[in-house]
Amino acid sequence: MPNKATLEVNNQKYDFPLFVGTENEVAIDVKALRAATGGVTTIDPGYKNTGSCLSDITFLDGEKGILRYRGYSIEELAEKADFLEVVYLLIFGELPNAEQLDKFHTDIKLKSVVDDDIKKIIDAFPKSAHPMGVLSSLTSALTAFNPSSVNVDSEAEMYNAIIKILGKFPVLVAWTLRKQQGLPLDYGDNSLGYVQNILKMMFCKPNENYVENKIVLEALNKLLILHADHEQNCSTSTVRIVGSSHAGLFASISAGISALWGPLHGGANQAVLEMLEAIKQDGGDTKKYMAKAKDKQDPFRLMGFGHRVYKNFDPRAKIIKAEADKVLADLGVEDPILGIAKGLEQEALNDPYFVDRKLYPNVDFYSGIIYRAMNIPVEMFTVMFALGRLPGWIAQWREMRLRKEPIGRPRQVYTGENLRAFVDLNKR
Ligand code: ACO
Repeated sequence: MPNKATLEVNNQKYDFPLFVGTENEVAIDVKALRAATGGVTTIDPGYKNTGSCLSDITFLDGEKGILRYRGYSIEELAEKADFLEVVYLLIFGELPNAEQLDKFHTDIKLKSVVDDDIKKIIDAFPKSAHPMGVLSSLTSALTAFNPSSVNVDSEAEMYNAIIKILGKFPVLVAWTLRKQQGLPLDYGDNSLGYVQNILKMMFCKPNENYVENKIVLEALNKLLILHADHEQNCSTSTVRIVGSSHAGLFASISAGISALWGPLHGGANQAVLEMLEAIKQDGGDTKKYMAKAKDKQDPFRLMGFGHRVYKNFDPRAKIIKAEADKVLADLGVEDPILGIAKGLEQEALNDPYFVDRKLYPNVDFYSGIIYRAMNIPVEMFTVMFALGRLPGWIAQWREMRLRKEPIGRPRQVYTGENLRAFVDLNKR
């Protein structure tokens, strides 16, 4: 394989080294481009061709539909692992042994108390506030309550910030839900497993004994694993770029939550369910909505379809679809929108518009159906995504800091006015 790329600019040739990743991904290393060419830069809106970093965490082959965390296939992890093992794997690079896992969980539990004053902030939000906005604000507020976790430099300081956010974030998620539902804001039960505790914090009622549902527990464990990392997507890139200014971990995660909120990213899981519900209300005519999705004059898009990187089946969508069938059957839930979703998928997979553009169902297409069966309100779906994505954000932030990456600061090509003279107000 050649080891350099040659670029010709204004009849002058420049050589740039090629960088080859462990899965033979080839990239042109353009670090020296501006210096060598006297200021020539690259333009790549949406960063479709730009590698922003080197990373050991997640491998994704969108053409083949492969996703691996630290070398382990997503299929095997979803089948065999516990979410907290995956959290450890993503952040520290190896699966923990029993002792490491136990210590990690104990450390997290010791930091899981959220300052009671945070409840005052929650009280100030209207009940109608979108949970993603609330969660992002509360995560940012953690900075104020944990100032020692802001300027972290050493690995030990980073570890401390990491276990704090892993302990406190599920509490904030549960409180966000409970506030919306008018339920008291409780603390968790540290005798339980990490995911078990999350469910209890979300669903326990003040006037009845909480009964754990094993099917719901297994499904949530799997969903969290499937969402845990996805390399340099919009929210993760946000976390890395905010963190690159050495803003703290909590501030970086808060920014990531805002990025995830958008309907083109994590907000798609809410948008999918709303779309399926609207199709149902409209008589279930999937063909009508397929036509709208293909009509370039119509802003409607088939939510949960298409992906920046996957040009094949999203491997997570396959697992979630199978899980949706299982969870709904196990819980005895008959949800007509599952049928509508399957109908849309079949039509899209056989429609040249979707086939030619390689648009397949993504992770969000079926996840909302499971969340709904688990009694999670639709506005909370993206919050559940954030809960799953937290370890990925942390792992990417930690990697970026340990590698001492420079502050993220892209270039631009200016297309505005040339220098012009100021015109006084009375002459304009
Ligand atoms: N419905 C209809 N047409 C679509 C869809 C869709 N869901 N997605 C893409 N297309 C079309 C575009 O109109 C475009 O057509 P054209 O070439 O004729 O102009 C072509 O497919 C390429 O689409 P782009 O928007 O250029 O692809 P991009 O990689 O920029 O966008 C994205 C990817 C944002 C995910 C897009 O597919 C989309 O909007 N999907 C719906 C929202 C969604 O499900 N988002 C969740 C993504 S997964 C995640 O973030 C967790």
